[in-house]
Amino acid sequence: MLTVAMVGMGWHSWLFREEMKALLGDISILHPRIVSYDIGREEISKLSGAALLDEVLILGGHSMFPESPELQNSLCRTIGEWAIQNFEGDDFAVRTRKIGELPDTISSRSFEDRVGRVVSSNGIRVNLESPSNEIVIIIAGSNDGDTHPEPFEFGETMVVWGLRVKDWSKESFSGRSPTERPYFKPISLEPRQARLLISLSRVPDREIKAVVDPFCGTGGIAIEAVLQDIRALASDLDSRMVEGTKENLKWLGKECVVKKWDASDLSALWGEREGCSFVFDPPYGRSSWRSADSLDIFLSVLKEAKKIDAEGVVSTMLPAGPEALNSGNNDDIIVMGKKWSELLSIIQEIGWNVHLFCPVRVHRSLVRAIVVCHPAD
Ligand SMILES: C[S@@+](CC[C@H](N)C(=O)[O-])C[C@H]1O[C@@H](n2cnc3c(N)ncnc32)[C@H](O)[C@@H]1O
Repeated sequence: MLTVAMVGMGWHSWLFREEMKALLGDISILHPRIVSYDIGREEISKLSGAALLDEVLILGGHSMFPESPELQNSLCRTIGEWAIQNFEGDDFAVRTRKIGELPDTISSRSFEDRVGRVVSSNGIRVNLESPSNEIVIIIAGSNDGDTHPEPFEFGETMVVWGLRVKDWSKESFSGRSPTERPYFKPISLEPRQARLLISLSRVPDREIKAVVDPFCGTGGIAIEAVLQDIRALASDLDSRMVEGTKENLKWLGKECVVKKWDASDLSALWGEREGCSFVFDPPYGRSSWRSADSLDIFLSVLKEAKKIDAEGVVSTMLPAGPEALNSGNNDDIIVMGKKWSELLSIIQEIGWNVHLFCPVRVHRSLVRAIVVCHPAD
């Protein structure tokens, strides 16, 4: 067993933590953007598809940032000595990173130098190009400047250190952005967001047997599912979208079932199944065939999903009013044209329990609420 620290991308710390919880289960929060977890080496592969994970370290320790130079020297000694005990191979580099809001007076370089001296004074060679050991020191400040709402407020400065895990590498999303794919429409979901929605539909110890997207559009979600070797069941009412999704999958050397179908009758298409994650961004405004019907279509899909797999999970992204980003009270937020408190009751009546409601800024004037529903008990 290893205790690892996982560092999230800066984009949305709350969702990063939710993604880690969905993938792993109970995590400990060290900082809004850093969580820790005890993991077997063979389990590290569970992290490979994560959308918002930036770095994985074997955790050395963490402490509040020491103010005095003496305490800083002592911390640098502790970090260097811990690292030597845990080295594999015979050379090293020290990398520091700063995250969050930090006073200008904090020099990460000076930490790097001091820890480096502790280690090299033990006769271990510095190798900045391809070190067999990378000591990572993260100086992490407050999250006051975050652009997204954050239930976990943090106003201190802390230091977290560890050794970079070599058998994990960050997922690359480059080369398949919507505009790079052969079939593009402005409705296309970014690969990272599609991947995040799939991750959030995970429940530890539940295997996803199929990702069902009844509004597949250009195939953003189906692509991220099949790239993780998860079966995708995609459909859309627009035959151009159906062909477009197939074209985009083919371009990646992949394929999946894609049908022309009305989502409000989804169970007639897929029947009863186990292990389903219903992952989708529903039509709204111009992408809806009749915009007044958007809410009805969404609710009918929630009912259909229950018929297909009553034990499944729904992970979706719904249009929300701009107040979602700064409202202290979720009840008043307008989601799909309705007060969230009212929509929530309807969702619960259908038999879903809202496990996560989290607003996301898509761009300047566009806000979405990520909503994850688990079966009601
Ligand atoms: C927001 S887009 C989905 C975009 C998609 N996630 C992507 O990455 O391209 C919504 C899709 O719902 C489809 N749609 C609208 N009404 C529908 C219905 N009743 N049944 C099935 N699909 C429908 C539209 O054709 C559109 O492709």
